[in-house]
Amino acid sequence: MFGLLKSKSKQQSVFPFVVDMHSHLLPGVDDGSPDVETSLSLIESLYDCGFRELITTPHIYKDLYPNTRDTLSVAYQELPKQLNAQGDISLRFAAEYFLDEHVEELIKSGQPLLTIYDNWVLTEISFVQAPIDLDNRLFDLQVAGYKPIMAHPERYAYWHQQKQSYHELKERGVMLQVNLLSLTGYYGRQVAEAARYLVKEGLVDLVGTDCHHHRHATTIWRESGAILKLLDPLLKKDRLLNMQLQKN
Ligand SMILES: [Fe+2]
Repeated sequence: MFGLLKSKSKQQSVFPFVVDMHSHLLPGVDDGSPDVETSLSLIESLYDCGFRELITTPHIYKDLYPNTRDTLSVAYQELPKQLNAQGDISLRFAAEYFLDEHVEELIKSGQPLLTIYDNWVLTEISFVQAPIDLDNRLFDLQVAGYKPIMAHPERYAYWHQQKQSYHELKERGVMLQVNLLSLTGYYGRQVAEAARYLVKEGLVDLVGTDCHHHRHATTIWRESGAILKLLDPLLKKDRLLNMQLQKN
């Protein structure tokens, strides 16, 4: 696989921002890749989409995916060392934290959270309803010195008729990350509408693949032209922060 990547290295990128900051590529730790082989083939598919730096973000959700820095580190080390050494593509890991009491406990314990960059922490909430104390949870993260990023706000149906929630999050200093596939209608019409609203209003700080499996990667690749067109207003104004995360 790595030889394959090398021979492809002159291939033109599909997406101009080469950093993806949201995916589930570590083997066997969450609902993403189940094994090393799948991880490697997903990484190759994302390479084909133009990505050269992957910050993968396994779920940390105590009830479902009780990951820790250590469990994720073990999974990361299962991947071949050449992945980062040969230079065509790099992979590092952070996490996507479900904003529950467990995050509060982690903060209180003083354990550093896994950040995608500097003090930036990727967070997610329930798809059923927003936590009633969401403001407090985000505020606690900020007081602890972190800058929260809300993953895929467009996917939370309870905000589709309350679009002021997006503006309120931004006013509170929360960054917003939209999934590339949301823009195309992959998650449904209303999600697409919300994602396009966020782009139109200039509220999007980051975009991510949220790649869990091959269908995600191949759809992103297939729909890349349409996605780029929909992102054009942000790209023209140089509003996306993905490139700021670049290490190489
Ligand atoms: Fe995710």
